[in-house]
Amino acid sequence: MTAEVTKVLATASIELAGEAAMIEFGAKIARGLLIGGGLSIGGGLSTGGGLSTSEGTEKPIIMTLQGDLGAGKTTLSRGVLQGLGHVGNVKSPTYTLVEPYQLAFGAVYHFDLYRLTDAEELEYMGFADYLTDGKLCLIEWPEKGQGFLPQTDIGIQISQLEESRCVTLTAYSAYAEQLVSQLGMI
Ligand SMILES: Nc1ncnc2c1ncn2[C@@H]1O[C@H](COP(=O)(O)OP(=O)(O)OP(=O)(O)O)[C@@H](O)[C@H]1O
Ligand SMILES: [Mg+2]
Repeated sequence: MTAEVTKVLATASIELAGEAAMIEFGAKIARGLLIGGGLSIGGGLSTGGGLSTSEGTEKPIIMTLQGDLGAGKTTLSRGVLQGLGHVGNVKSPTYTLVEPYQLAFGAVYHFDLYRLTDAEELEYMGFADYLTDGKLCLIEWPEKGQGFLPQTDIGIQISQLEESRCVTLTAYSAYAEQLVSQLGMI
């Protein structure tokens, strides 16, 4: 398998204590995506990042979430989804592999690949189809799908501290870089 060389454009880290802080940070990421990071409802604000309702041809924003079991990946995803306008429950896709959300700007797919035994299973589940209409893919445990996932735009790494979490964002694309700078952390 060939390892793709991906250029890191920006990184930023923040320490967050408690679930509420994690959800609020997710909502902040969502605001960044909606304002200028690629996701727009009217289409006109989009900077080419993939989330606009006017065109269905752009590839989705790929946001991966890595960290040990219980690190807070689903919690952060919940904050992002709620910040993007989802009202209601966000359940972990641990058993279903994927949970779809239809939001104002289009589809968001939340994956948890932990239970994949082989990355090739992504092909059987029709993963490519999620990329055709999805505007944003949140992917927990992307390492389980290595070799079968598209290029990550924004990588999120969560490490557990005693009472808190350290969240590191890594931008691999221009609008992800813009998003990270908007968060005021670089
Ligand atoms: N910033 C934080 N500080 C302290 N606790 C947190 C923080 N964020 C999340 N938690 C707590 O961590 C626990 C696990 O969270 P979560 O289910 O989101 O983890 P996960 O990484 O998705 O786990 P899995 O690998 O099993 O999918 C929850 O009880 C949640 O409240
Ligand atoms: Mg989870």
